[in-house]
Amino acid sequence: MEILFTPIHRFFLKFSSCTILLLFVLSYTSFTSTEAYDPLDPTGNITIKWDIMSWTPDGYVAVVTMYNFQKYRHIQAPGWSLGWVWSKKEVIWSMLGGQTTDQGDCSKYKGNIPHCCKKNPTVVDLLPGTPYNQQIANCCKGGVIASLVQDPANAASSFQLSVGAAGTTNKTVRVPKNFTLAAPGPGYTCGPAKIVKPTKFISADKRRVTQAMMTWNVTCTYSQFLAQKTPTCCVSLSSFYNSTIVPCPTCACGCQNNLTRSGSCVEANAPHLAQVVSASVQNSYTPLVQCTSHMCPVRVHWHVKLNYQEYWRVKVTITNFNYNMNYTQWNLVVQHPNFDNLTEIFSFNYESLTPYTAINDTAMLWGVKFYNDLLMQAGPAGNVQSELLFQKDMSTFTFERGWAFPRRIYFNGDNCVMPPPDSYPWLPNASTCRAISPVTVIVTFLSAVALLYGHA
Ligand SMILES: *[C@@H]1O[C@H](CO)[C@@H](O)[C@H](O)[C@H]1NC(C)=O
Ligand SMILES: *[C@@H]1O[C@H](CO)[C@@H](O)[C@H](O)[C@H]1NC(C)=O
Ligand SMILES: *[C@@H]1O[C@H](CO)[C@@H](O)[C@H](O)[C@H]1NC(C)=O
Ligand SMILES: *[C@@H]1O[C@H](CO)[C@@H](O)[C@H](O)[C@H]1NC(C)=O
Ligand SMILES: *[C@@H]1O[C@H](CO)[C@@H](O)[C@H](O)[C@H]1NC(C)=O
Ligand SMILES: *[C@@H]1O[C@H](CO)[C@@H](O)[C@H](O)[C@H]1NC(C)=O
Ligand SMILES: *[C@@H]1O[C@H](CO)[C@@H](O)[C@H](O)[C@H]1NC(C)=O
Ligand SMILES: *[C@@H]1O[C@H](CO)[C@@H](O)[C@H](O)[C@H]1NC(C)=O
Ligand SMILES: *[C@@H]1O[C@H](CO)[C@@H](O)[C@H](O)[C@H]1NC(C)=O
Ligand SMILES: *[C@@H]1O[C@H](CO)[C@@H](O)[C@H](O)[C@H]1NC(C)=O
Repeated sequence: MEILFTPIHRFFLKFSSCTILLLFVLSYTSFTSTEAYDPLDPTGNITIKWDIMSWTPDGYVAVVTMYNFQKYRHIQAPGWSLGWVWSKKEVIWSMLGGQTTDQGDCSKYKGNIPHCCKKNPTVVDLLPGTPYNQQIANCCKGGVIASLVQDPANAASSFQLSVGAAGTTNKTVRVPKNFTLAAPGPGYTCGPAKIVKPTKFISADKRRVTQAMMTWNVTCTYSQFLAQKTPTCCVSLSSFYNSTIVPCPTCACGCQNNLTRSGSCVEANAPHLAQVVSASVQNSYTPLVQCTSHMCPVRVHWHVKLNYQEYWRVKVTITNFNYNMNYTQWNLVVQHPNFDNLTEIFSFNYESLTPYTAINDTAMLWGVKFYNDLLMQAGPAGNVQSELLFQKDMSTFTFERGWAFPRRIYFNGDNCVMPPPDSYPWLPNASTCRAISPVTVIVTFLSAVALLYGHA
């Protein structure tokens, strides 16, 4: 380990570290905001496309496809469910590659009974292993949809439905209203269906083009604020140069025995742990967390491990504290200025999310298929880890003022609660920063917290 700083360096470090601290505080404040707009994925959305493939005597046959146009937010088990409200008295005669959860009241039909007569049907995907004669392309994955960066080939999901008591021309058909998308919990808001240019389909041999009778699109966007009131993930920090381990903030995702923000949890050494866990709904949307001071289902630990002359090394560990969730195809989004010069990453996949920008500082990390792309439920196997090797950019690199720690982290697209910037492990003898008084830092931090919990 060698840390050599000349007096000139020290001066610049002192200057830049003040700037860095300010940036920390600013970014800390900005990313607690709860707007739907995500600066790292500004056009991220799920687009639902209805293609009317043919008219029938009393309606039409449509293929509905959901495209996940989000870079790092995927839909995992128990999968999506899509709802809408019919504009007229439509019924669903039959479906392929999906089913409604409730048939509703079809008592006025005799003989041929519709698949669903509800005014507001809810559709879910079929499970893998569905017989081929009930499948269509892109179906039957239990409602799981990959993110665009992680697995573009699996970023769509389709089903087909035959609609009756509907219009039978593009003049008489009415678009459904009030689309809702649960994926699996709340979080998405869908706009109105818009009639768009009919989709053109190109045959496999590219020698013939066909066209839908009519097409409409619905766009749904995600907001973490709508998704849940409490965060789901937190960050802890440590370094080789300071023995302090900065834990996740207390009550980051909930508090034990706290009347104001209560949360139930399970002791890791509880005698009946196995029964409690097996009695809970597996892969359910509500977590069953191990009792910790932070009460988060997921913790990301960032350890600054080694310092070489031209490189430095970080170990990232993701730990699952949720007993009823195996996180499939998990991903992290990490912002750190040195991602511009990431040299090597061991046992995780990596892609820059800001590859063409001057500030190339944000990366998406995810597990290697069949090796560590599954973050197992809480317990001895409930963690995944990797090491990152960065090449130092000598003009900005420093271990002072927490520069070596990430600016923000998302787990599965949700913002992780960071420790307050002024608690980061610091170099021994770090020069104090006089440009910003500790009072300013504390006030700014508190207002950031107030902003976060004020919305909750
Ligand atoms: C949805 O995402 C697609 C792909 O990124 C983009 O082209 C489209 O403009 C987005 N739609 C909205 C309404 O943001
Ligand atoms: C309806 O179909 C007619 C031709 O049959 C076409 O000219 C018209 O553009 C279509 N309208 C819509 C909204 O698709
Ligand atoms: C559809 O949504 C609108 C606006 O949110 C609401 O006023 C209306 O009651 C909803 N209609 C149905 C049938 O749910
Ligand atoms: C409708 O959605 C499809 C698939 O996502 C997309 O290719 C098309 O551009 C969209 N049309 C409009 C007008 O947004
Ligand atoms: C309960 O939660 C509130 C808000 O997070 C916190 O200020 C308080 O200290 C907690 N009380 C206990 C006993 O943990
Ligand atoms: C997670 O996966 C393991 C191994 O496949 C399985 O035994 C366990 O029941 C799963 N847990 C949940 C919550 O689905
Ligand atoms: C951004 O970083 C990635 C990985 O470190 C690198 O491959 C890419 O060339 C960088 N882009 C720019 C514009 O520097
Ligand atoms: C990244 O490393 C290359 C050498 O591989 C160097 O030329 C470049 O200046 C570095 N860029 C940054 C932003 O550190
Ligand atoms: C390690 O970091 C902590 C937290 O910032 C700080 O209080 C402590 O003084 C540092 N330890 C040393 C030996 O500098
Ligand atoms: C810390 O600073 C004091 C005086 O400022 C100095 O005596 C001491 O050697 C320094 N320690 C280290 C580890 O740099």
